[in-house]
Amino acid sequence: MRITVLTHADSENAKASEYDEVVPQVARALRRLGHRVSVLGIHTDVRRFITGISRRKPDLVFNLAEMFGDNVSGDMLVAALLETQQLKYTGSGPGELYLSQDKGLSKKLLGYEDVMYPRFAVFSKTAPDFETGGNLRMPLFVKPLRADSSIGIGGDSLVHDAGTLMKRVAAIHRDLDDAALAEEYIEGREFYVGVLGNGMPLALPPIEVDFTGFPENAPKVLGSRAKWVKRSAEYKGTKSVLADLPDELKARLQKVSLAAYRALRVRDYGRVDLRLTNTGDIYVLEVNASCYLEASSEFAMAADAAGIGYVDLIGKIVGSALARYRK
Ligand SMILES: Nc1ncnc2c1ncn2[C@@H]1O[C@H](COP(=O)(O)OP(=O)(O)OP(=O)(O)O)[C@@H](O)[C@H]1O
Ligand SMILES: [Mg+2]
Repeated sequence: MRITVLTHADSENAKASEYDEVVPQVARALRRLGHRVSVLGIHTDVRRFITGISRRKPDLVFNLAEMFGDNVSGDMLVAALLETQQLKYTGSGPGELYLSQDKGLSKKLLGYEDVMYPRFAVFSKTAPDFETGGNLRMPLFVKPLRADSSIGIGGDSLVHDAGTLMKRVAAIHRDLDDAALAEEYIEGREFYVGVLGNGMPLALPPIEVDFTGFPENAPKVLGSRAKWVKRSAEYKGTKSVLADLPDELKARLQKVSLAAYRALRVRDYGRVDLRLTNTGDIYVLEVNASCYLEASSEFAMAADAAGIGYVDLIGKIVGSALARYRK
């Protein structure tokens, strides 16, 4: 097949060498599978995107675009563009991407399926009041409602009183131009469960975030430093490992993850982030539709543990997308 790998470009004139490292990895895997592969970057120039697509005429777009221009919530805009061109593409559509991006709305959908999530309140920028899902118990964790990649998240996201809560809310409104979400802080072990497919999706083995080397007095959370600042104590102090769990617990994590994946209508692939309390309750923190596919990401790591190597994984995502369109 002719497959175009679509990615976010940091600027209109970004070179292919500047694209995220996942782009050449996916392109290489697709070539190994025998496809004719091209790569296309999109910043905000829609005309250029349409010209690029018309020239390549792909049978399928492998959609890796997580942003549109500088808009970190712009993945749904790119998916919408693909829809307007009646292209077949991998991963969730604009609607599904919206559902999992809005962490307040997501929780309401999870609630209907009896999936447990931290109780929460949403503080929008415009409305003077706030919306709450139940009585909240301190401490709370305050984060942007939509932004991902731990933007605006760190040790100070954990607040113990109303004054600090309101300061964090104001900082999110001011610095990130996003609504703020305050949710109950879930103390416990943290897991990621990758899910693959549609209809009867497959839950991959859980990956655990190991906080053993984390700074002593800092709250054990994967904030932006822990995720991105390689020289920070938070980054050095965390690692993702294949979870060593009794079968029963592993099965429960996978069951909850499948329910969350379905509730948010994720297509083809996604990753569910969860916490397990010491009394055995499992809370879904968030669902990442079309999660990061880099070869050493938690998702790829989990697939590998299930005997699905990287090339095979990329092939399965292609297969899931095509099967959807055949229906
Ligand atoms: N309610 C909570 N209780 C405890 N820890 C939390 C809570 N919410 C978030 N965290 C911590 O903050 C981290 C980032 O939160 P979350 O996954 O919601 O953000 P994100 O920016 O969407 O991340 P990404 O998209 O990169 O996975 C979590 O991995 C977890 O360590
Ligand atoms: Mg997360």
